[in-house]
Amino acid sequence: MQQKPTELKDRRIRSFVRRQGRLTAAQNFALEKHLPKFGLQASDGIFDFAKEYNREAPTHLEIGFGNGQSVANMAASHPENNYLGVEVHRPGVGNLLQLVHSKELSNVRVMSDDVFEVLQNNIADNSLAAVYIYFPDPWHKRCHVKRRIVNPVFVEMLAAKMEVGGLLHMATDWKDYAKHMMRVMNDASQFKNSAGANNYSERPEWRTLTKFEQRGHRLGHDVWDLMFTKL
Ligand SMILES: C[S@@+](CC[C@H](N)C(=O)[O-])C[C@H]1O[C@@H](n2cnc3c(N)ncnc32)[C@H](O)[C@@H]1O
Repeated sequence: MQQKPTELKDRRIRSFVRRQGRLTAAQNFALEKHLPKFGLQASDGIFDFAKEYNREAPTHLEIGFGNGQSVANMAASHPENNYLGVEVHRPGVGNLLQLVHSKELSNVRVMSDDVFEVLQNNIADNSLAAVYIYFPDPWHKRCHVKRRIVNPVFVEMLAAKMEVGGLLHMATDWKDYAKHMMRVMNDASQFKNSAGANNYSERPEWRTLTKFEQRGHRLGHDVWDLMFTKL
């Protein structure tokens, strides 16, 4: 049964703190010049992707894309897909817009919003072919664990928005978060582990080495990939 928006809103968490990172002049320029072209408006209600991308194609969502390198690379490698990047950190949004412009990517759209709001207000049910969540904020202190974006309510929202057969791909360099993700996903009856029950997936060579994965390596962390299929 589909959740009523009010029920989801009551159970929603805030998974980010707005970092004060300064916008570079180039990011600021990109936000002003390219956001009107590549940005989607949260106030537009449920999106018609065929209209937003001017074509019918599978739509992939990257959540919390950081500086946007990963979504830009995926979009460049797969011109046959549409990509939507959602990130609250404005300098990162500016950075992705620069990449979209310089790589002439016509298949990327960008939102500078909280993905909880976006899923609830803008994304139609059964409309996403893939969702990527790479190196989400770990919230590793015990008192902050409830702020982790990967949690049962969020996964239920994602399940409603994803097509049958769609891929949910997550990666983290925090062992405790990897275990937490596995527990949450094992309990989510709408998904099946692509690597077999309780197994982590091999790191696919196509996954971009992001800034936060590099940070994890510097800290001596291992990395865990989880890939699940929407049933
Ligand atoms: C640790 S960073 C990882 C960035 C990037 N994926 C990487 O691997 O370098 C997590 C990102 O998720 C974003 N984020 C967290 N909660 C979010 C939300 N509810 N909606 C949109 N972005 C969010 C944060 O702003 C942050 O940039």
